[in-house]
Amino acid sequence: MTDKPLVQDFASDWDHTDPKWVADPYPIWEDLRKRCPVAHTDRYGGGWFPVTHAGVSAVAKDTEHFTSRTVVIGNGRPGEEDMPAPIGVAPPISSDPPFHAIARRIMLPALSPAAVNALEPQIRALCVELLDKIGDRELINAGSEYSQFISVGVIKQLLGFPPDDEDLFREFVHIVLEGVDHPQEQRIEEFEPIEAYFTKQIEDHQENPRDDLTSYLLNVEIEGQKLAPEHVFGTMVLTLIAGIDTTWSAIASSLWHLSTHPDDLARLVNEPDLMPVAIEEFLRYYAPVTMARLVKEDMQYLGCPMKKDDWILLGFPAANRDPSVFPDAGKFIIDRAENRHLAFGLGIHRCAGSNLARTELRVAVEEFIKRFPRFELSDPGAVTWSIGQVRGARNLPFRILK
Ligand code: HEM
Repeated sequence: MTDKPLVQDFASDWDHTDPKWVADPYPIWEDLRKRCPVAHTDRYGGGWFPVTHAGVSAVAKDTEHFTSRTVVIGNGRPGEEDMPAPIGVAPPISSDPPFHAIARRIMLPALSPAAVNALEPQIRALCVELLDKIGDRELINAGSEYSQFISVGVIKQLLGFPPDDEDLFREFVHIVLEGVDHPQEQRIEEFEPIEAYFTKQIEDHQENPRDDLTSYLLNVEIEGQKLAPEHVFGTMVLTLIAGIDTTWSAIASSLWHLSTHPDDLARLVNEPDLMPVAIEEFLRYYAPVTMARLVKEDMQYLGCPMKKDDWILLGFPAANRDPSVFPDAGKFIIDRAENRHLAFGLGIHRCAGSNLARTELRVAVEEFIKRFPRFELSDPGAVTWSIGQVRGARNLPFRILK
């Protein structure tokens, strides 16, 4: 973190990396929802933050007035020259229509329900292996010994990356998603090792093609043409970033919830049929992902004087707590029957990996509570949360109860 001033009023000066937001953003959003439907900031060169379900949905569906050229807020404004349309830096998430549909279609087979079902036994085996490694100690860390390994294990296999590079992948995720308030020149420098690593992996796959997403992207054709090298590169980076931090966060936050709500834990252990609805409530209540857009042209929108290149922080997690859409929105209801949450976004960029995410989350929670049917936080003050646009518990010291 830089030593920038702490936020005094989130309505006129929001910052999603402010320690208060990182520790517990929900009361902030609730307050904003009462005071203003769209908050503003001059930080990061200017931006807006709609907090209602209606506001978030309007922007997410509107590709005429907003571009996805970059979806992670920073101090710089990557221009067209850095991220040429229509591909953007990480297709399909950074692509606008009409190219977006092509870039998205390319990714879908690797993330289809059938492909994900085939992965489930391996995901389960990985969870069991991690739990075996933890053993029968009383004090464990469900963050650093469990949650952080699951999605990284799946994604490295999907991309066909070296098994021993997991620490590096978590470091890349940290650079991309948590270093957002660093000066632009520093950000560019920090990206260099990521660029070098992916270039090396591409070269290795070109020399030794194999059955994985990287080889598929290098060989797939659109109307007889292979993908541009920067397209392959960008989609690989997206898969790594979108696939790791998101699900890791969802798993860790769900386990945090169970460690602090013994009644919900007992119900989930005793009523395993609840799992599918519980997973949806975990996703609604602890939705980890907030994405961004850039305003295309000066305009009045949602009652705000938006300027070209202003950021919009798309608060899917805030939309999920909007009481005008979800009854008792601020309550976690483990058997909530109707739950059309926005954790995976909406509109053309709706998460392409939702099958995989749901499977990883379900299997990770199932295996954990099967092994440890009773647990609690051993040191609540030591719990930490990730910073920025993807939110999840990181340090999770648990006491396993007999
Ligand atoms: C709980 C875990 C996850 C959550 C909550 C989540 C959430 C989201 C959200 C909100 C978006 C929309 C972004 C936008 O509108 O700009 C998105 C897009 C995307 N996600 Fe996920 N995601 C998760 C896991 C995954 C996984 C495991 C993958 C697969 C590797 C993945 C791949 C993608 C891709 C490729 C897109 C871009 C889709 C497009 O632009 O058409 N996500 N995700």
